[in-house]
Amino acid sequence: MSTSQDSSVLITDVPPNAREDLVPILEESFEGWYLRHSKRTLSEIGLVREAKVNDERAGLIMLKELGNRLGYVYYIAVARKFRGKGIGGKLLDRSLSYFFDRGMQEVYASVEEDNEESSRLFLSRKFKRTSRSELARKYGTINSFVLLRKMLIVPGEIILFRELSPKLDVSIQSTSI
Ligand SMILES: CC(C)(COP(=O)(O)OP(=O)(O)OC[C@H]1O[C@@H](n2cnc3c(N)ncnc32)[C@H](O)[C@@H]1OP(=O)(O)O)[C@@H](O)C(=O)NCCC(=O)NCCS
Repeated sequence: MSTSQDSSVLITDVPPNAREDLVPILEESFEGWYLRHSKRTLSEIGLVREAKVNDERAGLIMLKELGNRLGYVYYIAVARKFRGKGIGGKLLDRSLSYFFDRGMQEVYASVEEDNEESSRLFLSRKFKRTSRSELARKYGTINSFVLLRKMLIVPGEIILFRELSPKLDVSIQSTSI
C-alpha cells in the first residue's frame, strides 16, 4: 500500500456494546466451531480493535494478556475485499506496539496448520513456530498447560510466538498509523 492509502486506515478500540457491526467480518472469515467461538469471544474479550478504511469496517483483532508478560492474538480477520492490502499487517503491528508498551515480553498466536494467509501474516512479523514441549521447557509443565488452556489451542493448530525487544523490533518502532 502507498503512504496515502496507509494514512486512510484508522485503527480504534471497539467497546463491547459496539461490536455487533463486526460480526459480518467474522462470518466471511471463519466457519463452524471457529465462527461460533470467534463471535462469543468478540462479545466477551477485553480488547477488540477495528480497522476502518474510508469509514468502512475492514478488519478486526482480538487481544488478550495471558499473564507472565505474555500477550496473545486471539483472532485477527480482514474482510475479503480488503485482504492482501496490508490491513492485517497494520492491525498486527499496532497490537505488537500495544503489547510492547504494556510490558509484554512475548506475543503468542495460533493458526490452523493449513491456513497459509494467516501463517504468512505472522511470519512476515517475525513470529516463529513453537510447540507444546518447548512451552513446557520454558514455563514448566503446569504453567504451560495453563497457558495452552488460555490460548484454547485445538488439534490441527500450530503455536507461533515472537519476543518483544526494542533491539529486535524495527517493525514495532516504525509502526505509524
Ligand atoms: C490472515 C488475514 C487476517 C491476513 O490479512 P490481510 O490484510 O490480507 O494481510 P496483509 O495484506 O496485511 O498481509 C500480511 C502479510 O502476509 C503476506 N501476504 C498476505 N497475502 C499474501 C498473498 N496473497 N501472497 C503473498 N503474501 C501475502 C505478506 O507478506 C504481508 O506482509 P507485508 O505486510 O510485509 O507485505 C486474512 O487473510 C483473513 O482475514 N483470513 C481469514 C481469517 C483468518 O484466517 N485469521 C487468522 C487466524 S485467527
